[in-house]
Amino acid sequence: MKRVITYGTFDLLHYGHINLLERAKALGDYLIVAISTDEFNSKEKNKKTYFSFEQRKKLLEALRCVDLVIAEENWDQKKSDVHLYQVDTFVMGDDWKGKFDFLEEEGVEVVYLPRTPEISTSQIKKTCMRKIFLKNKN
Ligand code: CTP
Repeated sequence: MKRVITYGTFDLLHYGHINLLERAKALGDYLIVAISTDEFNSKEKNKKTYFSFEQRKKLLEALRCVDLVIAEENWDQKKSDVHLYQVDTFVMGDDWKGKFDFLEEEGVEVVYLPRTPEISTSQIKKTCMRKIFLKNKN
């Protein structure tokens, strides 16, 4: 059984996320997704999510390609997670390229997958804000 892990916030789940998760799963047999807690997002990533941790977790658990969802509570847990969950492959989008190469020292394969162009949670939020702004203006 080849185990794959990936990390992220996954707020307002979109097709860029799905593309990433499906490709991650295709690299192995069992996909673990570590999602940032609300506290970690606000304290360390300066992010206020639209959906809460529990809501994001529920959405991810409903996906066929996802086998387990865990909490990401700090930047340092990756090193211990890969041993705790017996991970073979660590996957991130290529906006993180090079950032997690240190995990190779733990005996884990590190893979950066190309991001899906032209979609992101921040872009969705910006577009919604713009629409609301234009609606209120007219
Ligand atoms: N991702 C991707 N393609 C996209 C958007 C995200 O492959 N178009 C990947 C990221 O590279 C990361 C994972 O999905 O590995 C989770 O990313 P996250 O930061 O939660 O999503 P974004 O849409 O990038 O959110 P934001 O705009 O808030 O950064």
